[in-house]
Amino acid sequence: MLNLITETTNYLKDKGFENSEIGIILGTGLGKLIDEIEILQEVSYNDIPHFPTATVEFHKGRLIYGILAGKKVIVMQGRFHVYEGYSLQEVTYPIRIMEKLGIAALLVSNAAGAINLNFKKGELMLIEDHINLQGGSPLAFKGVDELGERFTDMSAPYDFSINSKFESIAKINDIKLHKGVYASVVGPQLETRAEYRMLKIIGADAVGMSTVPEIIVANHLNLKVAAVSVLTDECDPDDLKPVDIGEIIAMAAKAEPEMIVLFKELIRQL
Ligand code: HPA
Repeated sequence: MLNLITETTNYLKDKGFENSEIGIILGTGLGKLIDEIEILQEVSYNDIPHFPTATVEFHKGRLIYGILAGKKVIVMQGRFHVYEGYSLQEVTYPIRIMEKLGIAALLVSNAAGAINLNFKKGELMLIEDHINLQGGSPLAFKGVDELGERFTDMSAPYDFSINSKFESIAKINDIKLHKGVYASVVGPQLETRAEYRMLKIIGADAVGMSTVPEIIVANHLNLKVAAVSVLTDECDPDDLKPVDIGEIIAMAAKAEPEMIVLFKELIRQL
């Protein structure tokens, strides 16, 4: 993998991606952060050597290099998911590239269902810890030890100091920001009532289909990491309604302005 990483990194350096400080993965509910960035360079995922093969769905996927709140950032507009048929190594390949391009911190956003019924749809949750239910590890491959410590420590995968900054920014700006545990499943089907009950019992506050593989690899690379979920639906096993993807997307959009304040202000303070 090392040779591939070098080739991809050199391609992006030639395009002007260099000395970046912060990496950002724009999930559902943070897409409009792009409007706040002074874009210096952008490349379609399709054109980046060794990036996961783009699917039709991915025609919009772009890696962006620019300035946000005075910092040099690399932004993934669109991410790869295991449910699209990519391997965990493919899903997390861009994290390894952003690290080679200089980032020291990775900020991640996603949409998630609320397992903790004290949390309501449209609200935000700062991820304090996670449970990997994707049935595999992005670090389980031959040669991983050439890229970092194979037995990566996971005692504190989310950076305490970034999280406390997020909390104080939320407070000052009157944004409700819950804290909790995010469980990551493969999807793409939503959960059954029995699965939502199980997720609650094992200690999850929210559930989604991304983020955990990215966080594991970021920890493998010793990056500082933080992640925020937009809660798009309430997963009450005793009163479960059929999912409405339209409503999930609408909820994510509703929370977007608050997410943008949180991320922009945090980046200013980093
Ligand atoms: N389950 C899994 N992923 C999700 C959900 C959910 O209920 N809501 C948004 N993403």
